[in-house]
Amino acid sequence: MQAIQEISIRGKTFVPFIEGAEIQKIVEELSEKIYYHYQGRTPVFVGVLNGVIMFFSDFLKKYPGNCEIAFIQLASYHNNICSSGKVDIISNWPVDLTDREVVIFEDIVDTGTTLEKINEMIRDQKVKSSKVATLFFKPDVYKSDLPVDYIGRSIPNRFIVGYGLDFDGMGRNIPDIYQLKD
Ligand code: IMP
Ligand code: MG
Repeated sequence: MQAIQEISIRGKTFVPFIEGAEIQKIVEELSEKIYYHYQGRTPVFVGVLNGVIMFFSDFLKKYPGNCEIAFIQLASYHNNICSSGKVDIISNWPVDLTDREVVIFEDIVDTGTTLEKINEMIRDQKVKSSKVATLFFKPDVYKSDLPVDYIGRSIPNRFIVGYGLDFDGMGRNIPDIYQLKD
């Protein structure tokens, strides 16, 4: 039975990990927590492209308060499934963030290299506050001291794909999360 549910992407096998319906519950909880903190104010939610697309869109649909949105785009390079530690800025802050309360939205925080880069980028902006929300977090490999304020789900250090996350450019359109088979 299980074999039927396996998928293959670029020659690697992935097995089901978190269903779309379960992801929606995680996103709903994040939306409630973040709304609890920001209600009555107008934060700027900044999505980090590309991986955040599905999470950001579903989060925004569930968020009942006022907000503005913006995107930045970063490219983190991976040797297959391992972070190389190199992050390039493809697209920088598009809006003036002076005195704004900012929440950075990430699909997944792994080693924290990308977060360190974003933290560097935000230092030039005179923001009132900045926090980080991530759908997935891999605590076993996180190397940074930066706080991760809102975490959807902490997961083991195994490569995942789907719901915006890719393996070598593929699989972002899969509505569920799959995990690399060992
Ligand atoms: P970090 O810079 O090591 O924290 O990694 C952050 C970026 O690596 C994420 O934004 C993803 O693009 C990518 N990444 C890390 N782990 C995974 C994974 O399990 N699946 C897909 N992409 C991942
Ligand atoms: Mg990403």
